[in-house]
Amino acid sequence: MFVSYKVGILGMGTVGTGVAKILLDPVGRHPILSSVEIYRVGVRSLHKPRETNLDPSIYTDNLESIVTNPDIDVVVELMGGIEPARSLILQAIAHGKHIVTANKSVLARHGDEIFTAAKAKGVYVMLEASVAGGIPIIQILKQSLCANKITAVTGIINGTTNYILTRMSANPDESFEEILADAQALGYAEADPTADVDGYDAADKIAILASLAFGDRIKLDEIYREGIRHVTSTDVARAAELGYVIKLLAIARNQNSPNGLEIRVHPTLVLKDHPLASINGVTNAITITGDPIGAVVFSGAGAGMGATASAVVADIINVLASIEANPQNLNQLMGCSHQHYATIAPVTESHSQYYLRLLAHDQVGVIGDLGHCFGKYQVSLETILQKHHDQGLAEIIVVTKVVSELNLQTALAEIQSLSALHSVPTVLRLL
Ligand SMILES: NC(=O)c1ccc[n+]([C@@H]2O[C@H](COP(=O)([O-])OP(=O)(O)OC[C@H]3O[C@@H](n4cnc5c(N)ncnc54)[C@H](OP(=O)(O)O)[C@@H]3O)[C@@H](O)[C@H]2O)c1
Repeated sequence: MFVSYKVGILGMGTVGTGVAKILLDPVGRHPILSSVEIYRVGVRSLHKPRETNLDPSIYTDNLESIVTNPDIDVVVELMGGIEPARSLILQAIAHGKHIVTANKSVLARHGDEIFTAAKAKGVYVMLEASVAGGIPIIQILKQSLCANKITAVTGIINGTTNYILTRMSANPDESFEEILADAQALGYAEADPTADVDGYDAADKIAILASLAFGDRIKLDEIYREGIRHVTSTDVARAAELGYVIKLLAIARNQNSPNGLEIRVHPTLVLKDHPLASINGVTNAITITGDPIGAVVFSGAGAGMGATASAVVADIINVLASIEANPQNLNQLMGCSHQHYATIAPVTESHSQYYLRLLAHDQVGVIGDLGHCFGKYQVSLETILQKHHDQGLAEIIVVTKVVSELNLQTALAEIQSLSALHSVPTVLRLL
């Protein structure tokens, strides 16, 4: 076989194995794959058994020797984590290698220096696998929808939390903790589930999507983030009674606030007939709204060996086909040219409908007192329901109209001081 391109892979875990399987079986795929050789593979442990039958002599635990190897054209980073992934990517760029990575954590935090270095060196940094696995959302934003003015990106981009919320919805008797333990046993959740259930993973991904959609760099710590730990099966059931399902959504919009982009991750009540409401289990889905396209929805496997490897190998093919067609110049639709940071509006400037679950002492006049407080701060109500609760308490479910977050928070602060109020267990936003 005549081999013209040499690839160095950093990491041979779940995704690396999927990538190797595709590269070792090129027949019936894009013809350029026949000219790709897996030249070196970097891993932590040289003694671990591997699923693919790559020649053991190409494995090394000296990853620097891969990123500095003059024979290698493309470095595929599939290790995960921040360091040494960041340093190795930067070193590979400095040595003129094109980069393909699935690492959302490093891109969301260090995309700035990585893309600046890549631009200066004239190499590609490809990231299709970093968001939503098998859904080609990066290419859609960079290329397919590039004629549009994008106004919103709204997605279910964390499979673990969608699996948990789907199970809570289907089995009201199971608690969050029970379902999380099952998700861990099934391999859908990490032993430390923080990145998923507290919304960090979705925040990394929406930072990447927002920067592609709106053309500016995003500071991760300016994204409002709320996870799903406080969502109870009672809330899931009450939402269902009102015609909604609860989903962890990542939302980026550029229209609602005069003071910048609105970017947030939080559990959200979604109307049952909305396209995102029927996305169940570990599946991901993303709605992009633009002018003139309107709203388009993409869904599919958000993670897993095959789906993620499909995205990684597509990036390798795109890089190789582009340098073959034009070895001197980068295809600007595949690059990343952001120079400035976006202004992100504080969440208090956002406007939304809200779902509130309150517990009050079962006494006359409590609904009137609540209505008075909400009205005082222009929080108009759409629905208010009172249900019997145990221990002499009444459960009050409130759905507001679209109101200012600041007004809602101010009203809630006053409501918390009402003697009739016991507690406010849940406050969630509606899509
Ligand atoms: N798994 C998915 O479904 C999925 C989906 C989308 C994106 N991603 C992203 O893809 C990347 C890889 O994920 P994965 O699930 O394939 O991870 P994984 O199964 O944990 O594999 C990681 C690989 O990297 C190697 N590695 C890690 N740290 C290293 C170090 N310091 N030095 C040398 N080798 C090191 C490991 O070596 P050993 O094998 O010797 O331990 C292993 O081969 C991550 O950025 C992840 O976020 C994964």
